[in-house]
Amino acid sequence: MARIAFFGAGYAGLVSGVCMAELGHTVVIRDVVPERIEALERGEIPFFEPELEELIARNRERLSFTLSVEDAVAGSEFLFVCVGTPPTPSGDADLSNVWSVIESLPADLGPAVLVMKSTVPVGTGEKVRAALDARGLGQVGYASCPEFLSEGTAVRDFMHSDRVVVGSFDDVDGDGVEALHEPLGVPVVRMDVASAEMVKLAANAYLATRVSFINEIANVCELVGADVEQVARGMGLDKRIGTHYLRAGLGYGGSCFPKDMSFLKLLAGNSGYHFHLVTAVMEVNELQMRRPVAKLEKHLGSLRGKRIALLGLAFKPNTDDLREAPSRVLTSRLLAEGAEVVAWDPVADASGVLRGIDFAETVADAVLGADAAVVVTEWPELRDLPWAELGETMRTPLVVDGRNHLDAATLRAAGFAYEGMGRAASPFASLPETQEPERKLLSE
Ligand SMILES: NC(=O)c1ccc[n+]([C@@H]2O[C@H](COP(=O)([O-])OP(=O)(O)OC[C@H]3O[C@@H](n4cnc5c(N)ncnc54)[C@H](O)[C@@H]3O)[C@@H](O)[C@H]2O)c1
Repeated sequence: MARIAFFGAGYAGLVSGVCMAELGHTVVIRDVVPERIEALERGEIPFFEPELEELIARNRERLSFTLSVEDAVAGSEFLFVCVGTPPTPSGDADLSNVWSVIESLPADLGPAVLVMKSTVPVGTGEKVRAALDARGLGQVGYASCPEFLSEGTAVRDFMHSDRVVVGSFDDVDGDGVEALHEPLGVPVVRMDVASAEMVKLAANAYLATRVSFINEIANVCELVGADVEQVARGMGLDKRIGTHYLRAGLGYGGSCFPKDMSFLKLLAGNSGYHFHLVTAVMEVNELQMRRPVAKLEKHLGSLRGKRIALLGLAFKPNTDDLREAPSRVLTSRLLAEGAEVVAWDPVADASGVLRGIDFAETVADAVLGADAAVVVTEWPELRDLPWAELGETMRTPLVVDGRNHLDAATLRAAGFAYEGMGRAASPFASLPETQEPERKLLSE
């Protein structure tokens, strides 16, 4: 078992560090935010992630947290870099946190392997290698080991990974990283550093492409009278296709897909290639987040002065992460149309992020007096609410289900006008006859 230093106690670093401790390694996690380290020392996790708190408690004797680089690297054979790599204003990767880790390494560091888990553009490994050499740290090896976990299921994703990807310049460094993961009992795929960096970008781009693909199918379904839920089921049972990432909705968000798509698009562009498909996937996603606005207008006319309840703000359930969440785009569009917005989320605190809106503690408070409710995040608890009772407290019993999460028949039976995404089969069942013909409306 090894001693491993982790740089970055965010979603990726904390989860993978704690999971490495669960595998039996001794792990020291370093961050630059004092409150984060203090909270972790008290056994509190700085964000919402199922199973993580229990895992930290269980492995407490193999885990430590520090602000000090010296403490982190002392005796550590592996240095895992898990710092944030947000996009710059141009959409390229901001690697300043990565460089600050490299620069902070003590000049007298002993032999170790630096392992890049942060998502970085292809070519970063070469640059880090050169920077280490320039600092006289030739004894520090380098490997790329991209992280594939998803927030909300991060612990399970790590402990039951489909595979571990390891890219290295030197086989010995790759061997060391491979051995660390051996207790997982999963395939380890070895390759060169550039290819490992590309695997991460390509994997996320492929998944994002599936999301935008099914969303476009949904949009066409609305025009031609098909139901995307049935279409996706019929497609997904084909083993060549599979059911994953085929849920129509408001598009992808979060800290990974949007920025990784941008990294890939610009990596290609900076290298002289226009990546048409990635560009289209990003554009589809941007527009998809706005679709509820037209659906609301179809029922309510102008949204000026209308009170709209947003149910769910996090970019997906089981996380409190609001980075690039569709709720942010939707909120600003609704405010621009003059609507009043009231929002509910069971864990995400958006008070410092979404300005000019009200927040409700419960769904009942959010929908009280509302002209419509929009399901933005598919939180499980939304499915089992007493919708008939809630509908009676609303000014208009209208639900726009941006995630096709609720049971349309139940909602309609409860007196709601229900609008899903790509479910044109009978979305107008409860509309008054005076309403515009559906085909024209849906094409708006
Ligand atoms: N969030 C995910 O689900 C996920 C999944 C796979 C890969 N990744 C990748 O992992 C990387 C980190 O993502 P994240 O979501 O955990 O980010 P995050 O913003 O949640 O966490 C990053 C952490 O790094 C810390 N940090 C910054 N500079 C530091 C330094 N010099 N030394 C030590 N700590 C430092 C920050 O204070 C922060 O706590 C990104 O490249 C991301 O693309 C994230």
